[in-house]
Amino acid sequence: MALRSYPLQILALIFSYSSIISSLNFSYPAVFNFGDSNSDTGGLVAGVAFPLGPPTGQTYFHEPSARFCDGRLIIDFLMDAMDRPFLNPYLDSVGAPNFQEGCNFATGGSTVLPANAASTCPFSFNIQVAQFIRFKARVLELLAKDRELEHYLPSEDYFKQGLYMFDMGQNDLDGAFKSKSEDQVLAFIPTILSLFGTGIQILYNEGARNLWIHNTGPLGCLPRIIANFGKESSKLDQLGCVKSHNKAANLFNQKLHDLCRMFQEQFPEANVTYVDIFSIKLDLISNFSQYGFKEPLAACCGYGGPPLNFDSRIACGQTKNLNGSIVTANPCNNTTEHVNWDGNHYTEAANKHISEQILAGNYTNYPMSESAKINQYICSSDNYSHD
Ligand SMILES: *[C@@H]1O[C@H](CO)[C@@H](O)[C@H](O)[C@H]1NC(C)=O
Ligand SMILES: *[C@@H]1O[C@H](CO)[C@@H](O)[C@H](O)[C@H]1NC(C)=O
Ligand SMILES: *[C@@H]1O[C@H](CO)[C@@H](O)[C@H](O)[C@H]1NC(C)=O
Ligand SMILES: *[C@@H]1O[C@H](CO)[C@@H](O)[C@H](O)[C@H]1NC(C)=O
Ligand SMILES: *[C@@H]1O[C@H](CO)[C@@H](O)[C@H](O)[C@H]1NC(C)=O
Ligand SMILES: *[C@@H]1O[C@H](CO)[C@@H](O)[C@H](O)[C@H]1NC(C)=O
Ligand SMILES: *[C@@H]1O[C@H](CO)[C@@H](O)[C@H](O)[C@H]1NC(C)=O
Repeated sequence: MALRSYPLQILALIFSYSSIISSLNFSYPAVFNFGDSNSDTGGLVAGVAFPLGPPTGQTYFHEPSARFCDGRLIIDFLMDAMDRPFLNPYLDSVGAPNFQEGCNFATGGSTVLPANAASTCPFSFNIQVAQFIRFKARVLELLAKDRELEHYLPSEDYFKQGLYMFDMGQNDLDGAFKSKSEDQVLAFIPTILSLFGTGIQILYNEGARNLWIHNTGPLGCLPRIIANFGKESSKLDQLGCVKSHNKAANLFNQKLHDLCRMFQEQFPEANVTYVDIFSIKLDLISNFSQYGFKEPLAACCGYGGPPLNFDSRIACGQTKNLNGSIVTANPCNNTTEHVNWDGNHYTEAANKHISEQILAGNYTNYPMSESAKINQYICSSDNYSHD
């Protein structure tokens, strides 16, 4: 059968498999993921950029993996650790994808706040939740008609036993800084989280029990943010990251942690795991050489050279006429030396490191019950504490 075997073969060729030793009990029959480009395994490419697949003859830079990366994302490594295939995007229905072991609703550019006409991506969290509800209803309806479809669709039990993963909020903070002052952004964070809480509550009501929630990374350390907001050195911390953006990310995470704890207390039947992505990424950027990297901040794929190799006029893979000369934002020679891929996303090598840290169990808070240990890593960087 031709069930998307072609793209998966390509992925298998590109990605050299390496196993990660896990000390977490990380085994679920299915995964349902919600998020933005940090965990988009092809949704934006399928749903927005090229709804019918990339036009023939045109090479879209992120093809064939359709990820915002030079290889695998954190979610790919986590699926690997669970011995599960890579998640198919919900929006990619071309070629009869297999959803038996889950479905990915994440779409690049999406926000927790409902999308409006000006949004980069129409598939905000509320839409992703609605897509899930439709997906589940349709699956149950189809399975009732034809049990054979269990080879392609999750069984009813999987919706209860499956892992519901979340990685979002980064675009909400990022977008807020475009029109708001730092204080206004900080004041806006409870609104974002309240909408996030509404979403996970709806999913809980739909039967979701195992919730796995990534906090947001150090936004101020992305080359694009440093290029736009870090022109004055007073705006930067000792790592060279933009203080205001990291402070907002940190406050977001504290409030997300509170939300996770309260959710767990309110719904004892739920299993909520909070994953401290911020601390893992900040540690990687801060202690990069210890982990085998050479460039903590400079984009691998970009234009402009040191220190950031980032130019907002020309995205990774693009060729443009800049000031009379034709230039291309090419990838670096050795992506494994870089933490950052394209100014906005992490490299596969960084994602692998982050996944190893997650799976080692040092940065997860589980279960989030009242008696659970307080996450010793959260807000571990005093620089980003707020008053
Ligand atoms: C891991 O989880 C599975 C499924 O919930 C359970 O059956 C198993 O006992 C767990 N193993 C450990 C070591 O906790
Ligand atoms: C929560 O996780 C524990 C440990 O894996 C498991 O025993 C329990 O059944 C889970 N609860 C639910 C409601 O899935
Ligand atoms: C960098 O590594 C040192 C030593 O292991 C550690 O104390 C420090 O917290 C790390 N930096 C960050 C930002 O995590
Ligand atoms: C274009 O080139 C001129 C002369 O070298 C320079 O002054 C100007 O800043 C350049 N503009 C851009 C957008 O790079
Ligand atoms: C990549 O390698 C080639 C050939 O060794 C070299 O000419 C080029 O300067 C290198 N590019 C970068 C960005 O280091
Ligand atoms: C890429 O960089 C890593 C780390 O510096 C190094 O171990 C590896 O040999 C390099 N690969 C190539 C092809 O140069
Ligand atoms: C996780 O923490 C333990 C105990 O502090 C440490 O021995 C181990 O090296 C850590 N794992 C990773 C991947 O950092």
